[in-house]
Amino acid sequence: MTPELKKRIRSDKGEALIVSAEEAAMMIKDGMAVGISGFTNAGYPKAVPHALAELVKAGKTKVKVDLYSGASVGPEVDTELVEAGIIGKRIPYQTNASLRKAINKGEVDYIDMHLGRSPEFVSLGHVRKPDVALVEALGITEDGDLIPTTSVGNTPTFVKYADQVIVEIAMAKPMELEGMADVYMTEQPPNRQPIPITHPGDRIGSPYIKCGWDKIKAIVISDMSDLTRPLAAISEDSKKIGENIIKFLKNEVEQGRMGKSLLPIQSGVGSVANAVLYGLRDSDFEGLTCYTEVIQDSMLDLVKCGKATVASCTALAPSPEAQVAFFEDIDFYKDHVIFRPEEISNSAEVAHRLGLIAMNTALEVDIYGNVNSTHVQGKKIMNGIGGSGDFSRSASLVIFTTSSIAKDGAISSIVPMCPHVDHTEHEVMVIVTEQGYADLRGLSPKERARAIIENCAHPDYKPMLRDYFERACAEAPCQTPHILDEALSWHSRYEKTGSMK
Ligand code: COA
Repeated sequence: MTPELKKRIRSDKGEALIVSAEEAAMMIKDGMAVGISGFTNAGYPKAVPHALAELVKAGKTKVKVDLYSGASVGPEVDTELVEAGIIGKRIPYQTNASLRKAINKGEVDYIDMHLGRSPEFVSLGHVRKPDVALVEALGITEDGDLIPTTSVGNTPTFVKYADQVIVEIAMAKPMELEGMADVYMTEQPPNRQPIPITHPGDRIGSPYIKCGWDKIKAIVISDMSDLTRPLAAISEDSKKIGENIIKFLKNEVEQGRMGKSLLPIQSGVGSVANAVLYGLRDSDFEGLTCYTEVIQDSMLDLVKCGKATVASCTALAPSPEAQVAFFEDIDFYKDHVIFRPEEISNSAEVAHRLGLIAMNTALEVDIYGNVNSTHVQGKKIMNGIGGSGDFSRSASLVIFTTSSIAKDGAISSIVPMCPHVDHTEHEVMVIVTEQGYADLRGLSPKERARAIIENCAHPDYKPMLRDYFERACAEAPCQTPHILDEALSWHSRYEKTGSMK
């Protein structure tokens, strides 16, 4: 081994295990369940999945597997393996166009589930235990434990329960990342103890993922980098949604419901999340903290400029430029950024104790505050529920955002009834669109409907929503008025005519 490799593979036991990506790929057999590292395009294995797809396409092996991950992962997995017909079942989240198409055509079985609960599905045996864990690591310690890269996700669980572990050593990632992870695993009920986190910055575990040399069957040296994505431009609607959230939060402070450092922030990823976080940077809030799933450029920015003191997550999904800047300044970020297993980053227990402000995005919201985040027209999967449900049932303040219209106005995102519900009226507290916000706390269903229609709906759809609601109320007085023959007619009209109007 070269001196550089010896720094990463810290035992002579490792040398004999080094194989090519193709040799490691051939260890993955038809019918296996495979657990891979990675959460978003961060810390996922690349060389072995790519080699496996090529081997299958060349007819050198025939494989279909159940594939478990932390969340969505990069295209070497979710595009290449899908297009080679290798994935039979996929758990627990995805955002990939090829995979989405295959799922919606019925070619891949998909279990869309709460990410914080997904490791338990493995540990309690609700799904088959993985035969193989395929894991990216910075290196392997003397004891055979794995040093995580830029995500932890479900890797500790997959490694614990898999029979064999294949490790891809990520030469493109700097060793200085060592120490950023905080790996803590819970016991199974009835022996589970409280997770001892009382502040987003608390470290409670080890920087390493427990594995041991006995389990490691192959090591692949890879110089491939995560395919990080450029930062999407912040749309006008996202900017306005961000401004409305900041306005709402300022009012919370004025009302004395929280102080200037707010409560720890959980935010989804993408344009709206970036708009909100950039808005916080330019606000008078200070001493912010973040306890979330994924951190992106805007959160790193808050940390760098001193507005946020700590960002706890399970993965770092920056733009290519932000990743370079992060790697150049790791010593600074090490004091402020923590990577945790997703069972901990998305723990309902911790989210409840810390009293998070949860901000996530909806596809559509109904007039009573039920939210659909996952199924277009109630039928086709978009991405999945991800961590949004982990937080929506346990955070202190639960905000959902959406543009008031989609598809150039052919769709109203405020509808009489959602054909699929991920987050119910019982937990959704605030709806924010570019039109304004509706604070639903303490409101009855009929009061909520008026608040959502008047504050959040697009002017093109407001009269139609008012008309539906008033007629529903007139038809028969009840708790949650609906005209059942009409409630989903907006969706069927869109399918038939291409517009909800
Ligand atoms: N009906 C049909 N399609 C709709 C729609 C609706 N009501 N609202 C939006 N869309 C379409 C958009 O047109 C867009 O389609 P395109 O990709 O063909 O352009 C797509 O859905 C994405 O919408 P966009 O407005 O760009 O929002 P986004 O990128 O922020 O994604 C979700 C919104 C809901 C799909 C996304 O946030 C998500 O998957 N959420 C669930 C998981 C989650 O919350 N994760 C974070 C938890 S920590």
